[in-house]
Amino acid sequence: MITIALPKGELLKNSIHLLKSVGLDFSAFLESGTRQLQIPDASGNARLLLVRNHDVPVYVEYGQAQLGIVGYDVLREKKPQVAHLVDMQFGHCRMSLAVKESSPYRSPLDLPPNCIVASKYVNCARDYFQSLDLPVEIVPLSGSVELGPITGMSEAIVDIVSTGRTLSENGLVEIDTLYKSSARLIAHPLSYRLSTGGLQNVVEMMRSQIRSRIEGIKGFHGGS
Ligand code: PRP
Repeated sequence: MITIALPKGELLKNSIHLLKSVGLDFSAFLESGTRQLQIPDASGNARLLLVRNHDVPVYVEYGQAQLGIVGYDVLREKKPQVAHLVDMQFGHCRMSLAVKESSPYRSPLDLPPNCIVASKYVNCARDYFQSLDLPVEIVPLSGSVELGPITGMSEAIVDIVSTGRTLSENGLVEIDTLYKSSARLIAHPLSYRLSTGGLQNVVEMMRSQIRSRIEGIKGFHGGS
């Protein structure tokens, strides 16, 4: 039995579609509207654990799940002891520094020393400002980070930007990109090495599915 930790939210649908393509069928869950958090697959050979994004690596690191799919942003923030296996090529987004459009700041170096920066990603934010040698105070928030600059609590935020709608609809603009992110397949290192439950085979099938999808997209756009 392979257990896979998946995040509720944006990455879930794509993850379930990809798992179906390698014979792990959880698609009934997508139509069911159930609130169950532990989902068996159609064959009974695997199960999903539905967890918060930031908790996916925790379940994998502790071995309750042998596989997990999670954003690179979470891996960068938490630095868990897990094997990083595959870039899934979906869930593309970026970690950005953003400020109020009406503010005078157009680059990180414009920010006043010791100003407040709100973020769900305090470690990423800290590493970034340290690399710039800019002293700031990082204030941890758990969501709706955009309210920091809007309410005047912070000068800036470090947060995920995907479509950019949340920023633009709240009068904020990006002034720098820390890094780009996408969904990643991770594994419990020992389970992967021992190939518990045929794990290496499943991972290889996922790799080849992703490769053929990329080749399909390149073919469609006429790339080489
Ligand atoms: C994330 C992120 C932004 C938003 C960006 O929040 O923190 O707020 O998505 O997406 P966009 O660029 O497509 O608008 P999430 O939806 O996870 O909600 P939260 O702020 O409550 O954590």
